[in-house]
Amino acid sequence: MIAVIDFGSQYTQLIARRVRECKVYSEIVSCLDDFSSLVDRNVEGIILSGGPGSVYNVNIKAYRRIFALGVPVLGICYGMQLAAQLFGGKVKKSRTREYGLAFLTHYSNPLFKRIPRRIRVWMSHGDVVTEMPPNGKVIARTETTPIAAFQSGNFYGLQFHPEVRHTQHGKGIIRNFVFDICHGRRTWSVHRFVDEEIARIKKMVGRDRAICGISGGIDSTVAGTIAARALGRNLIGVFVDNGVLRMDEREEVDANLSSIMNLRVIDARQRFLKRLARVKDAEKKRKIIGHEFIKIFEAEAKRVRNVKFLVQGTLYPDVVESGSGIGPADVIKSHHNVGGLPKRMKLKIIEPLRMLFKDEVRDIARHLKLPSSFIERKPFPGPGLAVRIVGVVNPSRLRTLRQADRILQEEAQGLRNYREIWQIFAVLLPLGSVGVMGDKRTYDSVCAVRAVCSDDGMTADWVRLPHGFLDRVSRRIVNEVKGINRVVFDITSKPPATIEWE
Ligand code: XMP
Repeated sequence: MIAVIDFGSQYTQLIARRVRECKVYSEIVSCLDDFSSLVDRNVEGIILSGGPGSVYNVNIKAYRRIFALGVPVLGICYGMQLAAQLFGGKVKKSRTREYGLAFLTHYSNPLFKRIPRRIRVWMSHGDVVTEMPPNGKVIARTETTPIAAFQSGNFYGLQFHPEVRHTQHGKGIIRNFVFDICHGRRTWSVHRFVDEEIARIKKMVGRDRAICGISGGIDSTVAGTIAARALGRNLIGVFVDNGVLRMDEREEVDANLSSIMNLRVIDARQRFLKRLARVKDAEKKRKIIGHEFIKIFEAEAKRVRNVKFLVQGTLYPDVVESGSGIGPADVIKSHHNVGGLPKRMKLKIIEPLRMLFKDEVRDIARHLKLPSSFIERKPFPGPGLAVRIVGVVNPSRLRTLRQADRILQEEAQGLRNYREIWQIFAVLLPLGSVGVMGDKRTYDSVCAVRAVCSDDGMTADWVRLPHGFLDRVSRRIVNEVKGINRVVFDITSKPPATIEWE
């Protein structure tokens, strides 16, 4: 296996997952570990992740143990700086912090075998290697970073992120490390993952029962299906209408899923909206929604005998971005199914998809032969429209956003590249603006249209939607939705923005 040492990067799991895409097993190990567990494992190589810290601010001597294992090591960003410092080079804060795309030129090296000489790479760092360690050789540069990659013995360091999609040939670089440098073996598969999860859940739950929070999206459906395969009738699906769903969503989920599992539909609209009333802060909204969800599940669990477990469709991006991952990642957003959990949980949590990304989950859905309507469904956040209404959530603003979003969805179905779009949705801003309709002055809300492409939700770019489409959507929203007199189009990538506005 290839071990990925997590120094708190937002992209750590992405690295592990790129290795799994090579069908080589990969596991994440915290940088706080003493790495002794790696000694007897069949470790073929090690990847050091990036991280938010600076190597000159911490005692890095303990990491010598990683190199003592004697297998090839690839350091990414912080990981490269760490090795540079350990091997006797110098790392300093760079004069200009570098975020986004840069052009890399590499010199011939096994790590860049079959990779074009000049490629676009994704940078995200504040520190740089300014002096090479003795015995190290520079193997790539960019316009602003003369040491963009180096090799020293069987260590390879990259200042950029090969794991993110926006780095051209990033997968190829990782593949070169895994196969040409580490001689990794292809033993990992979706099939094996599902079988192992079913066996694990069976063993964990035994004769007890589990409930599964069903949102109607692919994550909870796949998690629920895996759990149902393990537990049969002892898995109970619970769908909560939290009052911040999209138009007609409850009816659609009910109609589609009750044939797949034993589904209970709970109407909790009033309860959620009461708790959300007058709350403006995004993190507070997320926490409230997560908390209420769990309380409802707990109450539901009490009504059925022997329910001791809660199955959730949490994916890895939810875990990382809530700062509750394996390493010291920064909290970006508390995802309702992780950060919102109250401390005193009465149910034990099962998260079969905790280590996976969306497209891996889609592969599993295909493997489980779920209907294509689920496989193709776009992600929808747990806190629903509450995080797409910036500021206060109330029934009238919900009505406005639902209508605008419905129009956008109707129009989007006709887009030629609809299937390739990761998410397309409307956002209601807490902003009024002056308009003129039928010779009358209006002072109404602004609606933003967001459309992004991504393959895992970790990084994303905005979709260049056709002007004719934007024009139609804008006209229809302003004409048909009372309370909106202006439509804007969000043209920000992630990073620096996130996909959802809150
Ligand atoms: P952000 O906004 O963090 O979103 O760039 C990344 C992806 O995650 C979805 N998202 C969520 N999913 N619970 C979820 O299950 C949540 O609390 C949540 N917040 C965001 C978002 O729609 C995007 O696909």
